[in-house]
Amino acid sequence: MSMNNQATDEVTMAEEAKAPLALLLELTHRCPLQCPYCSNPLKLEKVASELNTEQWMQVLDQAAEMGILQVHFSGGEPALRKDLETLVAHAEKLGLYSNLITSAVNLSQTRINTLAEIGLGHIQVSIQDSDEKLANTIGGHPNGYQLKLAAAKHIREAGIPLTINAPVHRLNIDHLEASIQMAVDMDASRIEVAHVQYYGWAYYNRKYLMPTRKQLDWATEVIKKASKALKGILSIDYVVPDYYAKIPKSCMSGWGRQFLNITPSGLVLPCHAAESITSLSFDSVVDKPLNEIWKNSEAFQRFRGTAWMPDTCKKCDRREIDWGGCRCQAFAITGDASNMDPACQYSPFHQELLELATCDANSTDYNFTYRRINIFNEH
Ligand code: FES
Repeated sequence: MSMNNQATDEVTMAEEAKAPLALLLELTHRCPLQCPYCSNPLKLEKVASELNTEQWMQVLDQAAEMGILQVHFSGGEPALRKDLETLVAHAEKLGLYSNLITSAVNLSQTRINTLAEIGLGHIQVSIQDSDEKLANTIGGHPNGYQLKLAAAKHIREAGIPLTINAPVHRLNIDHLEASIQMAVDMDASRIEVAHVQYYGWAYYNRKYLMPTRKQLDWATEVIKKASKALKGILSIDYVVPDYYAKIPKSCMSGWGRQFLNITPSGLVLPCHAAESITSLSFDSVVDKPLNEIWKNSEAFQRFRGTAWMPDTCKKCDRREIDWGGCRCQAFAITGDASNMDPACQYSPFHQELLELATCDANSTDYNFTYRRINIFNEH
């Protein structure tokens, strides 16, 4: 990374909101799996607070009016909503490209065929591991592995393009080659191998999940070789873990630049983990139009553009490449979301981040906490 001291004056000091590219709808926080690295907040929203069908349809109407192109139906497990087909059909009618992000364990062949007929554009299925026993242990579902295999077969038979989401961490990283082969066998066109990002439940369970530096280096080599060997068969996206990085990732392609996330109850977030920044508050689609929240809400404006950045970031040549990295990570590690992302080598907290990773990776304790709805909610 190079620094440019003369660039300060050229920094964009305020940025107008352009039309967002994509919208992610967390239709529900209910989920048949209990993965200990789930990116949902620790305090999960209950079914009684979920938006109803009509409210979600209004959100889709507003998204189309704003010029949004893609809508991702996610959760929790979006297939637990009986109105999933109605919402996908509505998105299709509005000309939105739709993607379903699912555990797939509740996705019957009939539902998959219906979604294909309606015009669902793409499905992403998560896998927990290539080893059946470990996969079911990590997901906390006795038959999740086999149900996913069956669903993937039906998805491809229905002609829907398939991506496999493969989160990796210390417990499953050594099986990476087999997980990539599993995606090939499932006839996926893409696999996203993503080192777990430490927000939400993953942050809580960090010491059970953090890979060692040696594991990371090995995995990176596996990805390099597989990307070459599988060219034209499977495209591989690779997300590296921040804790061992020197340059921060461009989280969400910049805060409030391209992406909106809506929680089951209608809160509009700049990223899926934004509620972890307890100094921010978020508006709801129940009270305000989506476009107004996108353009003017305090939460979206707070870290949009470059004006909020610390001086070191303002002077950095990468300021409009990584957009200051991840605000949620800055808050989690330093207690202040306006600090530099500690993944950056110039952050005063960078060494601390590396030490945390090394310490966690050497832990031999595997007593992680499963994602369950009542653990952090008041009863
Ligand atoms: Fe929230 Fe990175 S996850 S800004």
